[in-house]
This record gives sequence, C-alpha cells and structure tokens, in this order.
Amino acid sequence: MTPELRPGLENIKPHMVAADDKALARTRINIASNESAFGPCDLAIAAATEAIQRMERYADGAEAVLTERVAHHHALSPDGVVCGNGSDDLLARLARAFLRPGDELICSINGYQKIPNYAYANDAVPVRANDSDFTTNVDEVLSCLSSKTRIVMIANPDNPSGTWVSGSEVRRLHQNLPSSVLLILDSAYLEYVDDDEFGDPASLVEENENVVMTRTFSKIYGLAGLRLGWMYAPKRITDAIRKIGMTFPISNVAFECAKAALADREYTKSVFERNLNGRQKFAATLERLGARVLPSQTNFLLATFPPDLVAASDLHRELLAQGIFTRRLASDAFSDCIRFTIGTPSQMKEVSHVLQDLIKGPATA
Ligand SMILES: Cc1ncc(COP(=O)(O)O)c(C=O)c1O
Repeated sequence: MTPELRPGLENIKPHMVAADDKALARTRINIASNESAFGPCDLAIAAATEAIQRMERYADGAEAVLTERVAHHHALSPDGVVCGNGSDDLLARLARAFLRPGDELICSINGYQKIPNYAYANDAVPVRANDSDFTTNVDEVLSCLSSKTRIVMIANPDNPSGTWVSGSEVRRLHQNLPSSVLLILDSAYLEYVDDDEFGDPASLVEENENVVMTRTFSKIYGLAGLRLGWMYAPKRITDAIRKIGMTFPISNVAFECAKAALADREYTKSVFERNLNGRQKFAATLERLGARVLPSQTNFLLATFPPDLVAASDLHRELLAQGIFTRRLASDAFSDCIRFTIGTPSQMKEVSHVLQDLIKGPATA
C-alpha cells in the first residue's frame, strides 16, 4: 500500500501543447506566455538589484506594506487586499478555502484552461459552461447552476481567447447568482483594457459579500518571473485567504520591485499604448494573411487558421524552427488556433515577415 493521493489529481492534465525541447532552446522571439515584451521599468530593475543584496532575509512585514501600497494606488480599501505568489497562488487558495469534495465550480468551456484544475485539486467538480465563439456566455453559465455550485470563476478578459464580457453582463451574471455562490473575476489582463463598457470589477467587490477580483504584476508591470499577484475581496475572505498562505508570502525582491513598478505610472501608460498599437497592427496583419482573429482586450491575440490555408500545428512548428515560440492549446476546440503574445515592434515585424513566407508557401503550393 502506498499513501493515497487525492483522486481529483488524476484529472489534472497539461492544458498547453508541449513544444520540442531542442527547438525551444533555439528560441529568439518568445511570444508564447503573455509576458510583457517591454520588461519592467528601470526603477524596478534598480530596486531588484538593491534588494538582491539582502536575499538571506525573509521579507518580514512586506505583505502588509504592499497591501497598503496596492490599495492606495488603486483607491481601494486596504482591508480588502491580499498579496501572494502570483494570482495563481491566490486563485488556488480561494479554491482551497471554499471547495469541498463534490462541490461544483462553474467556468467557461474555452476560458482560462487552468480553472478546472483548481476544482480537481480539491476533489471538486468543474462544470464547463458553453460559450459563444470563445466568449463567456452569461446565460450558459447561469444554466449550469445547481445546489452544489460553490464558485463561478471566469477570467475577464479571458485567456487564451482575449475576449471579454461587458461590465453590465458581469453584473447581470452576479445578480442571478445565489448569495451563497462566490463569483471570482480573474482580472489578470485588466490593465490592458481600453473598452469603455468593460466596467470596474472592484466596485462589484465593494458592493457585495460574494465577489472577488484577482490581479497580477506578471503582465503590464513586466514582473512575471517574480511571481506576484493580489486580490480584492470582502474582509471575511481576505482573512481566510491569509490564514492559508505561506509564512512570509512574498520575496524581498518582489516587494521592492512592486513598489517601484506601481510608482512609475508613466511607464505603465507607455506599455499600455505600445501594446494597443502592436495588437491593432498585428491583428490587421493576421487578417490580411487569411486568419480569423478574435477581438482582444489583452496583450495577445488568438488566431484561427483555416485548414485549407495552413495547418496551425505545422505553422507553429515551422515558426519554432525559425526561433519564434508561440502557444498552442491542448483542447480540440483550439486545434486550428495559435496564440500570439504581442512583442516589441521589431519582434512583431519579424514575426509578420516569417508568417507571410510560411503561409504563402502552403497556400500557393
Ligand atoms: C487569465 C489568467 N489568470 C491568471 C494567470 C496567472 O498569473 P500569475 O502570473 O499572476 O500567477 C494568468 C497567466 O497567464 C492568466 O492568463
């Protein structure tokens, strides 16, 4: 007899397609993981260089200070903020705090592919609501409600699609949930949103006892490698989430960098603008080449390639052979798709040229 693992762990499978290791080692342009091509601001790099000198120390008290800074920066109540090891850590802790074996977590079928794993890790059951063209469908989510539903978790804007639901639709979703169901709005890409109708998830948190928003320093702030995220929730929930966190939950380097990154608002604004510009240009390029591109409010685009134009799996492999690493997703729904993170203008220029060569090849052959 060996010690028994939780049975739900059996269901956890990779949700991204693994790329060949040898080809990966030759990557020149990595536009696979929605990291910021623009990197962190200079102030954050200077802060990290300084903080690394004290790496023998735990960052005692850092979470409390950063919580205040984050709250102040976003004009939120400090009681509602918790910082953790990436938003992934906070999403996992939320699932652990709320899900009992057999409980149901509703997510959108082609939404953030990690979400079902938060249920499985707790022997809970993910219930996948149908969507509309890779976009969360509020009515479909509501139709999945049952007496076992404990959590509804959606990423908005979503990954890998980049699509989003408007603020009014999110409110309609919330209004139709029983108060016993927790609505988690994974807002990892919120800083990239430019749609006026998107709404403010923080106000929904403040008006209710059953809404949580998660955020990250991994995207627009360019700090993915430091693993730093935060969430905003009613105090009853933040207290519980802190209780089940690590001792000294953030590193001293992450702490110093985050303060510097928050302070440099001009830099964040310039990354927002460069991303928006790059996204619009690259969407037009992909469409010119014959791909269908989903509307996106993020730092990436999901493109669907008609199989008679080019097989997405071949295109992905050929791009990688030329040193360009893009993302393919494991689910069949994405078999004709490639996800491209928006890189720097020179990277996207090169990616566009290579795509043009590769797609022209099979199409005219
Ligand atoms: C929708 C979504 N949620 C959460 C995360 C995790 O982010 P973090 O780096 O904060 O753990 C990601 C990362 O790509 C994401 O795309």
